[in-house]
This record gives sequence, structure tokens and C-alpha cells, in this order.
Amino acid sequence: MIMNIDLSRGSIIRVSGPARVDVVEGKVLLVGAMYGKGSSIVVHRVRSYGLKALEDTKLKVTLGSGARVEQPNEGEEVVDDWLKIAEEVSNSGRRPITAVVIGPVESGKTTLTAFLANYMIQKNMKVALIEGDIGQEDLALPSTIAMTIPRKTFVWQRELSADYFKFIGYTSPQYCYGIVIKALGDLLAKAFSLGAEAVVINTDGWVNSPQALDYKLSLVRWLKPTHVIVLDEYLAEVFKSALPPQVEVIRAPRPAKVRERSREERRKLRSEAYASYFKNAKERVLKLNEVRIIGSCVLSGKRINPESLINELGLSSDTASNIVYASLYGNVINIVLSDLAKGINLSSNRYELNVVKESDFRGYLVGILNSELEDVALGILKEVCFTDNIIKILTPWDGEISALVMGRIKLTNNYEDFVRVGKCVI
Ligand SMILES: Nc1ncnc2c1ncn2[C@@H]1O[C@H](COP(=O)(O)OP(=O)(O)O)[C@@H](O)[C@H]1O
Ligand SMILES: [Mg+2]
Repeated sequence: MIMNIDLSRGSIIRVSGPARVDVVEGKVLLVGAMYGKGSSIVVHRVRSYGLKALEDTKLKVTLGSGARVEQPNEGEEVVDDWLKIAEEVSNSGRRPITAVVIGPVESGKTTLTAFLANYMIQKNMKVALIEGDIGQEDLALPSTIAMTIPRKTFVWQRELSADYFKFIGYTSPQYCYGIVIKALGDLLAKAFSLGAEAVVINTDGWVNSPQALDYKLSLVRWLKPTHVIVLDEYLAEVFKSALPPQVEVIRAPRPAKVRERSREERRKLRSEAYASYFKNAKERVLKLNEVRIIGSCVLSGKRINPESLINELGLSSDTASNIVYASLYGNVINIVLSDLAKGINLSSNRYELNVVKESDFRGYLVGILNSELEDVALGILKEVCFTDNIIKILTPWDGEISALVMGRIKLTNNYEDFVRVGKCVI
């Protein structure tokens, strides 16, 4: 459906995608960027935005299935407040600017991050964007954090690609926040070294518990931002009272009516992101005894000869022949059984045992490091074949692989992810 819409200067509409907005006459502001006559803006499926006419404007809006254009009620849209915040941050005189965006899930963090970045890009500042929400796939894949220096304004971070990223291996910050903070700090330093005058950092939406607040305050402590922009009144109070005045805490209102995403839609967005990353991936075959592996309780451990377990575990030699690999990692003996093994029960009085099958490795997402221990790509573990001493991974990366980092995320053949937290099993 096509709608022709006339807007008088200053008026605001809300557009829910999938839609294309052509500016026929006038000028509009969307996600912090200005679009003049002749521009065309794509509002993606599952996204909605407030659009403000900066002049008397004529729009041609093409709506896809489920899309709509609405007149917001008084107080529902936040464009003017966000614009004031963007002005305040960019005019603060602090250089370089580091602005951290904090808020609950679905409060508008990603959009406000884009808004601030776009606004400062249009002020001709060199802006870096850091995606610190490891649960989302906006700039890079879930379980990673990423940085980019966008060359032009954008609507949704999905239009950009990451210049640098760090594989974290989890999609919830509870399990890894020290690493997230370290990785964010490294990317921030990288952005500065590339000459960024402003860095806008998005964070995850975990804010509703004492641990979550500890984490967010630690994050601010270590990143030392000039501005913290908080999409929640209560949280803003917490940050204001906890942080010294050098860190300017600004409360931002959240949009009252947004296009909500169902669990299914979120899952689909994630699998689309994985599918797109791995679309040109090839299989790489590595020697198990040559590649270094971090974060795998089975493969990072000290290899032990299954024969030596015969006495310890009271095994029959028949049972022992089903063990394709064994390792000692801390106080745990890891045993990998052949997929053909059936009905084998193992126990030890002295050690904790972790018994897995050869096929249990399949599907794990791994980070790939070069010899400087820098993240260069992601891969999917296709197979670990202990008898042939090889490990196969699927990755778009064709350069040097110095080490693999195992995470806790497994992908199905259709790129649906599931997360295995808790004790290390693989
Ligand atoms: N000003 C706005 N008006 C209407 N919807 C908005 C506005 N800003 C963001 N949204 C929509 O709200 C939803 C959540 O926003 P998002 O920025 O993804 O939040 P978060 O990153 O906190 O989860 C998205 O669908 C987004 O398109
Ligand atoms: Mg987000």
C-alpha cells in the first residue's frame, strides 16, 4: 500500500516497518539523521521509529505487510527530548566523548545509540559505535561485542558491519561480565587510536537485580565515560548517586509505544544473522594436536592415555576401547566415548568424571584468534574426529588460525541457537 502524507513543520508520526519512506518535498529527522528531498528511508520489519518533519514535508510511504503509520498521542514520542540530549552531549565540550547508553530490555537503547551516533556524524564528527549487547545481533553476531566507524548515517545497526569484534561466547552477561568490560575497554581504546572524537556504546538490558547494577556500575567505572544516558528514571537515580560528577548522567525518556518483537521474531533475527555471516563459509580441517583451544574443558585439558584409566576406573578392556579421548582438566577427568558406544557407566572414587560423546562437539560456535591473540572470525565446530586427530570448522575466514575459543552456544543446521550455561561439558 502507498500513502501520500503531508506533514507540517514540527509534526511527528510513528512508522512501523516494513516500510519505505520517500521524501518528496521538505526535510525530516529519523533516528537522529536528517533526510531531505529525494531521500529514501527503509524502516525494517520489526522496527518502529518516530519521524519528525523539520520543514513542511510531503512523503510517499510504501507499506509492507503489517506496516503502519500512526499519529502518536501527546507524550508518546521522544524525538525532541532525544534531540536535546544529542545536542547536550555533542556541545558538552568534552573530547573525546564517550557516551554509554543504559536501559532495560526494549527500552530503545539500540535506537538511542544510533540516534546519538547519527547526530554527531552529521556534525562532521568522527564517531565510533560499540555494540556491547552480547544478546543481540544488531552490529555483529550474538555472543560477540563489536565496533565500527560508520561512514554515513544509518537507521538500524544491521545495515553496518563490524570493523572489529571480540568473541565472548555467552549471550547473557551474568556469566561473563568481567570479559565484556575488558573487551569493551579494548574496543574503546581501538576507537580512540583510530581518531574517534565520539564513541557511543550500547549495552545489554540486564538491569533488574543487584548483580546487574553492580555490573553496570563496574562497566562505567572501567570505561570512564563522559556521559551515561539512562532510559529509566529509577536507574538514572542510581547512577547519579553512585557516580562522581565528572560522569554526566542524563536521563532519557523511552518511547511509549514500540513495535514489540516476539520470542519467535527474535529467534528468527538471530538465525538470519548467523546464516548471513556463514553464507560463504568453507570447511577448514585442522590438526587436533596442533590447534590451540581455549575454554573447552575436554580439549583444553591435558591429554591422557585411555589405557591409563583402566585401573583407576576399573574398566574392562572392551569398555576402554570405546574411549576415543581422555583428558584431565583441573580435578575433572573428561572422557569422550565413540558415538557407537552404548550402555557404558563410568565412575571413580577419586575424580569427578565428565563423559561426553564424539558428536556432542558438533555445532558449537567458536572464536578464531590469530597469533597476536586478536579475534579475526567466528566458526562453527562441524566435527572433532579423535581417531583421525582432526577438527573441522566452518568459517568464512581463510587466514591463519592460531587458536580457537570455545563458547557456550550451539547452532543447529538451520542456525537456530541454544545456549549451554552452567558447568563446562565440552
Ligand atoms: N521513537 C520510537 N518510536 C517508536 N518505536 C521506537 C522508537 N524508538 C525505538 N522504537 C522501537 O522500539 C523497539 C525497541 O527499540 P530498541 O532500540 O531495539 O530497544 P533496545 O535496544 O533497548 O532493546 C524497536 O522495535 C524499535 O524500532
Ligand atoms: Mg538493543
